Amino acid sequence: MRVNGEPTRPLRSKDGRVFVIDQRQLPHRLQVMPLDDMAAVRQAIAEMWVRGAPLIGATAAYGMALQAARDATDNGLQAAARMLESARPTAVNLAWAVRRVLKITLAQPVPRRAAAAWAEAEAIAEEDVAVNAAIGSHGLPIIEAIARSRPGPVRVLTHCNAGWLATVDWGTATAPLYQAHAAGIPLQVWVDETRPRNQGASLTAWELGHEGVPHTVIADNAGGHLMQRGQVDLVIVGCDRVTARGDACNKIGTYLKALAARDNGVPFYVAMPTSTLDLSLSDGVKEVPIEERPAREVTHITGRTQGGQMMEVQLTPKGSAAANPAFDVTPARLVTGFITEQGVVAADEAALRALKAPSG
Ligand code: MRU
Repeated sequence: MRVNGEPTRPLRSKDGRVFVIDQRQLPHRLQVMPLDDMAAVRQAIAEMWVRGAPLIGATAAYGMALQAARDATDNGLQAAARMLESARPTAVNLAWAVRRVLKITLAQPVPRRAAAAWAEAEAIAEEDVAVNAAIGSHGLPIIEAIARSRPGPVRVLTHCNAGWLATVDWGTATAPLYQAHAAGIPLQVWVDETRPRNQGASLTAWELGHEGVPHTVIADNAGGHLMQRGQVDLVIVGCDRVTARGDACNKIGTYLKALAARDNGVPFYVAMPTSTLDLSLSDGVKEVPIEERPAREVTHITGRTQGGQMMEVQLTPKGSAAANPAFDVTPARLVTGFITEQGVVAADEAALRALKAPSG
């Protein structure tokens, strides 16, 4: 998608080097950082310079490729895979992408491994773009149907950032929005700020603004009220791991939006690339590992001062404890459907198992 009219991606490779947007600086500063080795890739994922399930997968794939260029032995590659997979626990795309590169690479003789790993990382990144574009095409008719049914803009609520910054391009939840906007359908997007890291307020709002999509940032607690007032036609969120029975793990707060949507008869869709489907798990609440992030993300907040400096300030009383579970699970019964690259499917085991598995 575009920034100031220029095509921009959060992850790029050039001449054997890897570059990412440091998302911690957005929306105030667009800073591109090189990642020169596997350790730098791991750091960028763990510290959330890059984040979002598909993007951490694609970035980790390049981490494997950078490792293969330095040490392509079985031991070196397997150790790198373990390091990268442990960078963040919840999104399954990370392990999926790392194992995909590992498998292809180990199948080659050592002298050919660096080239094989690089080619596989490039393939994962390019496939992600195509997958998200297809999610957009399959989600578009849902928005078109609402647009036909009532006058005025289609009012869509989204949580966290499942936009192009969370993927290699298009985003997952935002792909249908960008395609609807391009098709001339009037939209009004409610952007949950998404405490504590504010991915909605900082990232989704920035993306939508650069694409000219009308949007309004709301406090996380406002969604239920807006649904009760009939001001939300549709919810579309992303996901980090979906179980075989259709329980969807996504950014903390998603579950509460799904409950409010069900209570108010608002359709609740989850945009899901099949690389996010984990058929080895069933009960999402019990089985999906939920990342616990530092308390400081709750007790402090960072923003830009009037003078243009980035500054962190404390919100809570000194000494108050804070807990920071980063994800929650929306049970399948609250999900209207999954918008996948293969079409819109029901939130049930038979439909999810019938999907073609992604490569790798
Ligand atoms: O902690 P984050 O910012 O990596 O969490 C991201 C989300 O929860 C997204 O909504 C999800 O990964 C979908 S990304 C297309």
